[in-house]
Amino acid sequence: MKKLDGKVAIITGGASGIGEATAHAFAKHGARAVVIADIQDEKGQQVVESIGAHRCKYIHCDVTDEEQVKGMVEWTVNAYGQLDIMFSNAGILSGSNQVILDLDFSRFDRLFAVNVRGMAACVKHAARAMVDGRVRGSIVCTASVAASRAARVRTDYTMSKHAVLGLVRAASQQLGEHGIRVNSVSPYAVATPMIRNEIGKEAEEIERLATDVMPLKGMALKAEHIADAVVFLASDDSAIVTGHDLVVDGGFINQVAAIQPSS
Ligand SMILES: NC(=O)c1ccc[n+]([C@@H]2O[C@H](COP(=O)([O-])OP(=O)(O)OC[C@H]3O[C@@H](n4cnc5c(N)ncnc54)[C@H](O)[C@@H]3O)[C@@H](O)[C@H]2O)c1
Repeated sequence: MKKLDGKVAIITGGASGIGEATAHAFAKHGARAVVIADIQDEKGQQVVESIGAHRCKYIHCDVTDEEQVKGMVEWTVNAYGQLDIMFSNAGILSGSNQVILDLDFSRFDRLFAVNVRGMAACVKHAARAMVDGRVRGSIVCTASVAASRAARVRTDYTMSKHAVLGLVRAASQQLGEHGIRVNSVSPYAVATPMIRNEIGKEAEEIERLATDVMPLKGMALKAEHIADAVVFLASDDSAIVTGHDLVVDGGFINQVAAIQPSS
């Protein structure tokens, strides 16, 4: 028996990066259907081809549009009978530093529309489908180490990921009576297209920079490590875990920049 045998799952942002790796992991662990909801149609179709059209489907869905999210969830339930897992993962960066003194609110609004409003719309409509179908489902949101720490840049991104933790905590309180669990996964830097475009470096260089500051040595953080954590939260291995933020960061988040004593 595989961990996700017979499960029906939706992955937003599943055409690329962490979502793409998780689509493969869900299929490997026995999911009956993996629905990829994204706005990158060509890349989404490529993921379907690599997994197999018999158990993976792509749907164009912009998570900023609640009607598209509602329609995508309804399509999934009509096609497969129920929804067991929602991995609400689609997210963006602003593409500029967004320091508070120069905060650009058009970028801010766009980022919040995806990272906060879109995330809430996906949780809302997945939860409705699970309640209506009497499914003890699992909802997993992608937060970030930026959900509980801050950097000197990316104010809007940091704010948006803090909001994801608020969403997870509130929804987990409200949906518990239906047997629905809501958790988040919080990656540190993974060299996905989002980060490569933002930082303007190749994957190997990003992995080297991240590895340098992670206390856990000997391996680079990959999208597959995040996918493994999502499989745990999506499966019965975490049957009584809800409202939890699972940080996947090689110990990065627990560091303080201590002043070293002179030797
Ligand atoms: N890569 C990292 O280092 C890192 C770290 C912490 C958190 N995260 C989070 O992980 C999640 C996935 O990011 P990734 O790194 O895999 O990036 P990515 O760019 O590879 O994937 C993000 C996907 O989301 C999709 N998307 C963007 N806007 C959308 C919209 N409006 N509707 C539907 N889909 C949309 C994109 O098309 C893309 O396929 C994001 O929420 C991001 O904030 C990433």
